[in-house]
Amino acid sequence: MPPATRIKILHVVGARPNFMKAAPVIAALHGRAEQVLVHTGQHYDDAMSRVFFHQLGMPKPDVDLEVGSASHAVQTAQIMIRLEPVILEHRPDAVVVYGDVNSTVAAALVAAKLLVPVAHVEAGLRSRDRTMPEEINRIVTDRLSDHLFTPSPDGDENLRAEGVPAEHIHLVGNVMIDTLVRLLPAAAALPVRERLRVERPFVLITLHRPSNVDDPDALGALMAAIGRIPPTHEVLFPVHPRTRQRLAASGRSVAANTRLLDPLGYLEFLSLQRQAAAVVTDSGGIQEETTFLGIPCITVRENTERPITVSHGTNVLVGRDPKRLLAELESALARPAMRPPAPPLWDGRAAERIAAILLEAA
Ligand code: UD1
Repeated sequence: MPPATRIKILHVVGARPNFMKAAPVIAALHGRAEQVLVHTGQHYDDAMSRVFFHQLGMPKPDVDLEVGSASHAVQTAQIMIRLEPVILEHRPDAVVVYGDVNSTVAAALVAAKLLVPVAHVEAGLRSRDRTMPEEINRIVTDRLSDHLFTPSPDGDENLRAEGVPAEHIHLVGNVMIDTLVRLLPAAAALPVRERLRVERPFVLITLHRPSNVDDPDALGALMAAIGRIPPTHEVLFPVHPRTRQRLAASGRSVAANTRLLDPLGYLEFLSLQRQAAAVVTDSGGIQEETTFLGIPCITVRENTERPITVSHGTNVLVGRDPKRLLAELESALARPAMRPPAPPLWDGRAAERIAAILLEAA
């Protein structure tokens, strides 16, 4: 008897925050679907890409489009040009895209025009701030998607308000938390803090949004605020390549309390995150990870597409105001540690739910 035909799923990833979202979905479909993994090459440094594939146990990409860095239009266009023949060659039953980066929207556009169903993992999030490229990527990707997998009920509400038919929206929970739940024991076993010789409680910093780091004055004011974190706490700042370039170009010296580190692997960063007294960030994913871990998070943005992290009580938005940043940090450090229960469906099983829906739809 010929083997039953299996559905073919083509996943597109490209930038650092995609990898921990795709890993559990690929694992959940393993052996149940034929899978093709495409890396666009939006992120290409070992520290931004390869280390994640290794630590997350992801298969090597079947195709690397090697687009590299460029302006938004050039990067998005290059991904589209190079992805089209790949989709034509593989003729998948669905293309799965993740998050809100340029690779996400580029792949959704190509697949939708080739009439291949698009599945968007992390659909429905909205900051309502179109000055952020990610918001445009989210809106366009969701508009083109056939299966919209949301991490929290606010995502469903946003999509319904935009007229997306209810049968296309699936509240599945948070795939990023699937990866966190799986790898927390491995991260906890790593002596990262010891290796870095961190002796006091510490604050963990990440900043990479263009709105915070591309304007030298804004970056200078934020770095000055970080420099005033009281000496009761050490300050660890793994630096994104974009931020590294901007800091170098500004020519300003960094305050003595601030330890700049190279970008960390997934496990190393998670290890520090779970032990941090507080996190200061402009990342989307870190707002969610701190919510799950119950670590106070000070978000250096005016808005968030992840309001559940604020209503949950772990996250506070301080805009780009250095005074508010320091005031909120001080009060977070003074509060006893909180461990609110994780939001519903942030339970390590979101990818299983996604796999079941994709297999059912095929
Ligand atoms: C991208 C995403 C952002 C995500 C972030 C996570 C978009 C629009 N933005 O922003 O949503 O939060 O990734 O990191 O998709 N660079 C390197 N090595 C690399 C990659 C980039 O040195 O491997 C440098 C390049 O000089 C590049 C700059 O970093 O110009 C910015 O990279 P880019 O991918 O354009 O945007 P990110 O700021 O990383």
